[in-house]
Amino acid sequence: MARVTVATSDIEKAAQVLRAGGLVALPTETVYGLGANAEDPAAVARIFQVKGRPPSHPLIVHIAAAEQLDDWVEEVPASARLLAERFWPGPLTLVLRRGHRVPLEATGGLQTVAVRVPDHPVALSLLSAFGGGVTAPSANRFGAVSPTTAEHVRAELGDTVDFVLDGGSCQVGVESTIVDVTGEMPSILRPGGVTREDLQAVLEHPVAVPSTSGVRVPGQHPSHYAPRARVVLVEPEKVVAEAELAQELGQQVGVLLPPSLAGAAVKAHAVVALPGSLDAYAHRLYGFLRELDQQGCDLIVASLPVEEGLGLAIANRLRRAAGPRTSA
Ligand code: TXA
Ligand code: MG
Repeated sequence: MARVTVATSDIEKAAQVLRAGGLVALPTETVYGLGANAEDPAAVARIFQVKGRPPSHPLIVHIAAAEQLDDWVEEVPASARLLAERFWPGPLTLVLRRGHRVPLEATGGLQTVAVRVPDHPVALSLLSAFGGGVTAPSANRFGAVSPTTAEHVRAELGDTVDFVLDGGSCQVGVESTIVDVTGEMPSILRPGGVTREDLQAVLEHPVAVPSTSGVRVPGQHPSHYAPRARVVLVEPEKVVAEAELAQELGQQVGVLLPPSLAGAAVKAHAVVALPGSLDAYAHRLYGFLRELDQQGCDLIVASLPVEEGLGLAIANRLRRAAGPRTSA
């Protein structure tokens, strides 16, 4: 999975842009982020403007190392310490009580803050060179599919971003797992790159799956992570029939063909043969959705993978993509 190296001068330049209140798109192991100085409310406000994201939706603060966590939060419960030690740098975001350093603009007014240490050499170099925290949502327009290459970022946000660091394609391909550690028991707010099974092994107790109430997680809006094409989810054995029917009725149909149907002939506009491994599926999921959009599909027919391991995050994103669209 190609990672390109970035010149030290570009890292320095990006750090300068952050210091000056600008926006930098940066690669992480999950998806590309749209970064700003976490302690600069005006820069943080620009993120919301560029993304078209409602200001009440909180951002993740990215830091260079687990040792810095205490600088950004009020307290670090034992479970959070354990998870940070085990999974950082990595695709895990911890929600903790907000420290004074974090402006309310970055948390959407919440008294909690989401923090993570990304596992990508370019992101880590930037965070070290910059020295502070970087708030970074995924570098896409609100509700759309997250970018997993620098080209995706440029295509979607153009020159509204001051600097784009190209670190190649993101290895994990879906966003970080968000775990709320402010309550009695850690709970998953968004499944992602660190699996529920991984979390349970470290915590040595069951971890609740995504709750749908209470916390402001944009990923829990009905339609999110959505391509332009409408997405319908059916049982794997119905994918071909559903796709062919819609195609016959005049739609331009794209198909995400499950590995169990590999080689099946499908009369549709575009067919993507899904990889057999969940790692490869997650890595390429958003790219597939973008490609089907580019090929002019107006409907994508897919099925859900088994919701184990990374399958939980993939299924979560497909459900969101298939959720009812609002005009907003
Ligand atoms: O992998 C990722 O997490 C990527 C990369 C760039 O790090 N970032 C990302 O950011 O996905 P974004 O803004 O697209 O999604 C962050 C999620 C949102 O759903 C937000 O609501 C949730 O984190 N979040 C942030 N702060 C929170 C808080 N205090 N309480 C609950 N949820 C929070
Ligand atoms: Mg996002």
